Amino acid sequence: MPDDSAAQAAQIFQRAFGARPAAVAHAPGRVNLIGDHTDYNGGHVLPLALEHGTAAAFGARDDFEVHCFSADLGETAVIRPGDLDPGASRWCGWRAYLRGVLVEWRARIGGNGLALRGANLAVKTALPMGAGLSSSAAFEVAVLRALCAVNRIRWRASAMAEAARAAENRHAGVQCGIMDPLCAAAARAGHALSIDCRSLRRRHIELPPGWRVVVMDTATRRDLQTSHYNRRRTECEQAAAALGAASLREVSETQLERARAKMDAVLYRRAKHVITENKRARAAPAALAAADAGAVGELFAQSQLSMTRDFEVGGDALSAIIAAAQTHPACHAARQTGAGFAGCAVALVDAGADDFTAVTARRYRRHTHLTPAFYTTRGGGAAAIFHPASNADNAD
Ligand code: GLA
Repeated sequence: MPDDSAAQAAQIFQRAFGARPAAVAHAPGRVNLIGDHTDYNGGHVLPLALEHGTAAAFGARDDFEVHCFSADLGETAVIRPGDLDPGASRWCGWRAYLRGVLVEWRARIGGNGLALRGANLAVKTALPMGAGLSSSAAFEVAVLRALCAVNRIRWRASAMAEAARAAENRHAGVQCGIMDPLCAAAARAGHALSIDCRSLRRRHIELPPGWRVVVMDTATRRDLQTSHYNRRRTECEQAAAALGAASLREVSETQLERARAKMDAVLYRRAKHVITENKRARAAPAALAAADAGAVGELFAQSQLSMTRDFEVGGDALSAIIAAAQTHPACHAARQTGAGFAGCAVALVDAGADDFTAVTARRYRRHTHLTPAFYTTRGGGAAAIFHPASNADNAD
């Protein structure tokens, strides 16, 4: 079992529905090593799945309804077939995500006419919400994995990641890209996942054996529905249009510099971040595979500067924890991760440095009076089905 959430979800299911679940679907959260705000511009990303994630214990129902109990929120959502109709009344909060997943899943498994078999779900997460570790994609992918299992449908990582992204874009009002759900659906333990978000081509990149990845939670939070995330996406589209391109992926640094004088200054800086971040995300896999600490450290430092200065998605707490980490001699590289504004940063650290988290916590607390949390990871695996008290069934 990857974390406690799978075993907990099974117990919660039993209490909520009075029966043992058929099995538990578990999907990991992720920490993005480099390549932020590039996915929705058709660019490159390098996320790493976590061992921590979200579990959905499931069992089939005799009707066509989906009953989902969220143990973290203490709430139940009931979704009936008519609720999936386009005209169905407005849904909000986590119920909008759940309904969106069902609508988009049904559209991808054989047309809107197909009746889905009903399911009971009990969901439990081990991820902090709003921390930049992709808790919403883990929820969506765990539910999708459970729905496929209940309906005996083969798991297709790319199609299910598309369903999760569409649930966010069309039903939850977050204009995110494909990185988070694709990482949750297709990662390999011990490896980062290099994704070309235009073609969805991916490569598994092994982490250097002597390194560990430390996720550094600043204990500050943001909300993608109300943060400037969607505005950044719109700015990127405006910048691409000003440059006469379908997306910023198609634009080179030379083309950008040539157009600079005629461009709005803010749009220029947004485009500059995306175009240079794409280059860094393409260079990082080779530097990582070679365990080249100097090169990885420089790529992370450039990325951090670009995120804060040009893309303006930094935050004081993020800067403080990165500075605290970087003063430790065992820290090879550190940067903020994911959407930004608040939440988590990531550090690549020499595996032998036992005092890294204690020293970083002390320095961070001294500057901010906040108590951080740390998760050390070597990279978790993709979404999988677990049978309580047995091993994963990862058949694709
Ligand atoms: C959020 C989104 C992702 C991606 C990152 C920034 O995590 O869900 O699609 O855009 O922000 O890289």
